[in-house]
Amino acid sequence: MLALVKSLTLAGMEAAKIQVEVDVSSGLPSFDLVGLPDTAVRESKERVRTAIKNSGFEFPAKRITVNLAPADLKKEGPGFDLPIAVGILACTGQLNSDLWQDCFFIGELSLKGDLRSIPGALSMAWHLAQSNRGEQLIVPIDNGHEAGLIKNAKIVAVSDLRELVSFLNGELTIEPLTVNPEDFFLRAKPNGAEFDMIRGQGGVKRGLEIAAAGGHNVLLMGPPGAGKTLLARSLTSILPPLGLQEALEVSRIYSVAGLLTREHPLIVERPFRTPHHTASTASVIGGGRTPKPGELSLATHGILFLDELLEFRRDVLEALRQPLEDRRITVTRVQASYDYPADFMLVATANPCPCGYYGDRERECNCTPYQIQKYRNKLSGPLLDRIDLQMEVPRLSLEELQAEDNGEDAQAVRERVTVARRRQTERLRSHGLYCNAQIKGPMVQEFCPVNEEGTKLLHRAFAQLGLSMRAHHRLIKIARTIADLEGSELITGSHIAEALQYRFLDRQTI
Ligand SMILES: Nc1ncnc2c1ncn2[C@@H]1O[C@H](COP(=O)(O)OP(=O)(O)OP(=O)(O)O)[C@@H](O)[C@H]1O
Ligand SMILES: [Mg+2]
Ligand SMILES: [Zn+2]
Repeated sequence: MLALVKSLTLAGMEAAKIQVEVDVSSGLPSFDLVGLPDTAVRESKERVRTAIKNSGFEFPAKRITVNLAPADLKKEGPGFDLPIAVGILACTGQLNSDLWQDCFFIGELSLKGDLRSIPGALSMAWHLAQSNRGEQLIVPIDNGHEAGLIKNAKIVAVSDLRELVSFLNGELTIEPLTVNPEDFFLRAKPNGAEFDMIRGQGGVKRGLEIAAAGGHNVLLMGPPGAGKTLLARSLTSILPPLGLQEALEVSRIYSVAGLLTREHPLIVERPFRTPHHTASTASVIGGGRTPKPGELSLATHGILFLDELLEFRRDVLEALRQPLEDRRITVTRVQASYDYPADFMLVATANPCPCGYYGDRERECNCTPYQIQKYRNKLSGPLLDRIDLQMEVPRLSLEELQAEDNGEDAQAVRERVTVARRRQTERLRSHGLYCNAQIKGPMVQEFCPVNEEGTKLLHRAFAQLGLSMRAHHRLIKIARTIADLEGSELITGSHIAEALQYRFLDRQTI
């Protein structure tokens, strides 16, 4: 007898429908699996056999053939355990209703018959909801909450094979799971402690406020101990809250990476990812044997923090260029190439020179101009061009550090940032964008009107600094954010002038 069981798999971020064909016929006992399975899928046979027996069902001593269609799509991971088991139970008359034919099944089986979660359940539920034909998606209990976030998807979460069979046989009712995403936002509470303990550094804090409001990239450059790491980390306390749509987009990436849990099925705070400079290229960029989103993608709608930027490997720095422009990253594998979102705000720190003290007011730098040049070349022009705000972080004197001047508290700044971000999201809504940093080349003119005085200033600076077209657009976008913080629709000369201050490395000559 032949059973056709519906299932889903992941291809990059997207889910695709898979038909699991299970044939059980008389002949010498065997168990074959075909249709481009990877190792984890091939190992499925042992898990399915043992799980069926240990759940108290009969495993047929017959010829079993399983085909995963379409054959040209690579099948990865252990998620086919469940549909294969259902197919075998259906073929051997152990399911006594046709309900299974209207369901999609995903999940890994333990040897005991328990269902284990798999990556990408949210993406799969999303996919099914799109074609909405009323089919139910049967998922392992630990995937239930993430899948249940998707409206219009009928999610049935089960904990083991025995429970599933009772459900499919009509002996047990399980209500479809719906999860209200709003409930999880109550948990998100910003913490301003780090920002509030910063003394002085008013100029840098203002720059961080602009960056937080518009989602712009930041480079903090300064001598050791100047507070670069502290300032960068404090950014999380002034970021605008994550919106529901953004939260779903981020959570989908975490789902594909297998990072969502039953307790935290929805990411409700902006991600702050901090890969170390010794991290492998695959873990930062994405990919690997079973392709997974990397740190760049996990930082979407949040911050990718690269502390000591120049210590990172050159190939990692080079690989940043595409996502900094396109806000996506393409990971090419032998079998296929996958596109992952990589829509992050880059926050990086660096010392100004190899010894760290170039430009310091007290300690002398003992690097040669050649050494400095070589060091900075690593920050190649194209990468530097993509960093919107370049700021110098001076080392504070002892008096400054002891002065009781911590400036405005995080909450006041965050409120201003949130209002400015809301203006941007409103303005960019028709394009599906959230912040000024996402504005692409041709849209700059439409969304960033500059008055006459501002235009004159821009022309002059352009000629003097020899800015590239890309840097020019980025400058206008920063000015857009400065205007938004002020509540002004039009970008004026003063907004442009302030934006120009944040191109510190363009101005500096060694
Ligand atoms: N403006 C400041 N207000 C309060 N504390 C500060 C300030 N600047 C630096 N510090 C403190 O000084 C110490 C060093 O700061 P931090 O690690 O951020 O420096 P850094 O610039 O990242 O140095 P390095 O280049 O060595 O990594 C930290 O303990 C930090 O809390
Ligand atoms: Mg540091
Ligand atoms: Zn030096």
